[in-house]
Amino acid sequence: MIILKSPEEIETMAQACSIVAKTLDYVGNMIRPGITTGQIEQVAEEYIKSNKATPAFKGYRGYPASICASVNNEVIHGIPSDRVLEEGDILGVDLGVYKGGFYGDAAYTFPVGKTEPETERLLRVAEAALYRGIENALPHKRISDISCAIQSYVESHGFAVVRAFVGHGIGRSLHEDPQVPNFGQPGRGPRLRPGMALAIEPMVNAGGYEVVVLNDGWTAVTMDGQLSAHFEHTIAVTEDQPRILTRLN
Ligand code: MF3
Ligand code: CO
Repeated sequence: MIILKSPEEIETMAQACSIVAKTLDYVGNMIRPGITTGQIEQVAEEYIKSNKATPAFKGYRGYPASICASVNNEVIHGIPSDRVLEEGDILGVDLGVYKGGFYGDAAYTFPVGKTEPETERLLRVAEAALYRGIENALPHKRISDISCAIQSYVESHGFAVVRAFVGHGIGRSLHEDPQVPNFGQPGRGPRLRPGMALAIEPMVNAGGYEVVVLNDGWTAVTMDGQLSAHFEHTIAVTEDQPRILTRLN
């Protein structure tokens, strides 16, 4: 069942989402060679709490941290640790916030220092794919029009979209209906309507689309060991253009 949000509820969500955006921006500025993912976790958690909000991921189905920190071949759900970031790495930071009864969720993949040109291309294509998806979140379209736009853009650039994890509705729960896959035929699935709030989150692999979850029960890595990038926004479908709730103002 898809829960539509009233304009007032969207405004409340926008407040939670704005803290997500500010936190991502804040921790983005501290990412450099030599820092650990655990240090980024600590700063993110403090920053979220100092904004009178609650980290949404900590304790969610037993997840042990406030952010997901996924390095290089790690696709999503990397657990912050004492791993030291090195020049040329990429770091996906995914974080969620709960405030005023609603959730916000976003992710960004940062280069660590200077990266290879092919790595930069992966990041650019993955981020642009997110915006291709968002552009299609229009009231007369269907969920899979978002999916198809993402997949065709990514594959036209020679990369692959992950199938095993998908985007989702979001609101009073972190994960609501509908699922928002990053692949598929156009014109399928629920029709988009004003008041829908969606977390659109392409995961783009440099090699094959297959992923494996490590023995920690969380960390998803690429099966072929190649790089993966993840970008996510929480958006609201409106009467015209979608509103990106987790965009930094
Ligand atoms: N953005 C992720 C998602 O939508 C959240 C990670 S789930 C958690 O699935 F368990 F790590 F919190
Ligand atoms: Co999400």
